[in-house]
Amino acid sequence: MELSVVTGDITAQAVQAIVVNLFEGVESPGGGTGAVDSVLGGAISSLIAAGEIKGTRGEITVIHTIGDAYSGFVPDRVIVAGLGKAENLDLDGVRSVSAIVARRLRRLNVENAATIVHGAGIGGLDPEACAEALGEGAILGLYRFDKYRTSSKPKFDETRPATLTLVENDASKVPALEAGVARGQVFAGASIAARDMVSEPANVLHPTKLAEIATDIASAGGMAIKVLERSDCEALEMGAYVGVSLGSHQPPKFIHMTYDGDPANPDNNLWIIGKGITFDSGGISLKGGAGMGAMKGDMSGGAAAIASMQAIATLKPVLNVHMVCAATENMPGGGAQRPGDVVIAMGGKSIEVDNTDAEGRLTLADAIGFARTKGAARIVDIATLTGAMVVALGMGHSGAFSNDDELVEQVIAAGDTRGEPIWRMPLDPITKKQNRSDIADLKNSGGRGAGSITAAHFIGEFAGDTPWVHLDIAATNMGRSVHDWEPNGATGVPTRALIQLALDLGT
Ligand code: BES
Ligand code: MN
Ligand code: ZN
Repeated sequence: MELSVVTGDITAQAVQAIVVNLFEGVESPGGGTGAVDSVLGGAISSLIAAGEIKGTRGEITVIHTIGDAYSGFVPDRVIVAGLGKAENLDLDGVRSVSAIVARRLRRLNVENAATIVHGAGIGGLDPEACAEALGEGAILGLYRFDKYRTSSKPKFDETRPATLTLVENDASKVPALEAGVARGQVFAGASIAARDMVSEPANVLHPTKLAEIATDIASAGGMAIKVLERSDCEALEMGAYVGVSLGSHQPPKFIHMTYDGDPANPDNNLWIIGKGITFDSGGISLKGGAGMGAMKGDMSGGAAAIASMQAIATLKPVLNVHMVCAATENMPGGGAQRPGDVVIAMGGKSIEVDNTDAEGRLTLADAIGFARTKGAARIVDIATLTGAMVVALGMGHSGAFSNDDELVEQVIAAGDTRGEPIWRMPLDPITKKQNRSDIADLKNSGGRGAGSITAAHFIGEFAGDTPWVHLDIAATNMGRSVHDWEPNGATGVPTRALIQLALDLGT
């Protein structure tokens, strides 16, 4: 879908459908909606008076005007989108309504549509931010992962709508709206890149493929990338990461991408580290069969990390961003590590592998160890780390764990800005003891209680005193329309929050 911005009158657009909006409780609409109402001889206000249009958030009314012979103007359809109560509308609302409208346009088989910018009028929101949210919502809301369907035809023409034009009366606002739309496209494009990686099955998207995708993104964005092989990782003494890879025929790939946004100040950096288990069978501590297929998504943190770099290279914050994804499968082959094995992580800490299914923290230990030897000033890791996180917060929030109040607040704020909610969890000294081993410095599982917290404590041992935030996205990486801009399946969370964080830190 092509997005554009024009100066003009919404009633004068030569398109198949125009989109206007209505706040709940408004009886005689003003602005663009009012102008359309007048051309239609008061059709919208009559429907409001009749109680058919209420303006509740997400309500969609399609008025068939049957073209200019009948109504006096070109569009065959007017879509009235409800925005809810004016005082409740925020950017999430704009993103939602835009996603719902875009899907309706597709169902109506509309090729070209024009819309007013929701929220920018009496909504009182910043017009540029509204245009951005509108663009994001439309693109993200139309997403589908259909590449493997050959026979079952999609119900609707996936190429529709082909164009969506944002129409603004006031020419002086157009440059800001254009900037907003352009940024919204960059954010949404990165999130979709992450969704595509998560949705790919694990026989296609193995570590080698993930490294190829990362390499393509790096070269398109003019970024440096290094992919370390198993032997390189052995030489760096990444015993924890290498241990996880031993049960698979797929070679591990340790991916390190660099965006140089402030080359004169190497200490001005952010390290984004994503868990990259392209399939998690559990290893010798094999998982049960039910739902195991979802473990193709156990590289969602890595996907978000890699995809965020695509947008960061375009939006160019003044800060150096390093991305690491220690990619591997976790499989139970003959070479696999066993429960009870002891491995030595980079930096020398010994770990008793109590459960081979607690593999994510092992790979993250070495990824974080690597980042610290390279002078990381701030680390954010993202991981589908624990089933316990699903139990604790469900799909409403990703969990955040941190040793640094300032950084975690910045991460949470970035999530709020982008509609990717994050909730801080505690790192208390009581549960930390659950990671004690009888024979090594640490063990990789902390027992039944507080499973997401003990996992975070384990990673925290390797972050040391470097400002660090761990995001557990075990429930938020895939969903069933949790937000209107997240259709079923991979959500891309928290790609857009990571991009926002880099922008916030690099301005
Ligand atoms: N990838 C899983 C966590 C997970 C579970 C993500 C469900 C998404 C949905 C992780 O590697 C894992 O297996 N964790 C174990 C840890 C346990 C063995 C200490 C878990 O949560 O059960
Ligand atoms: Mn596991
Ligand atoms: Zn896992």
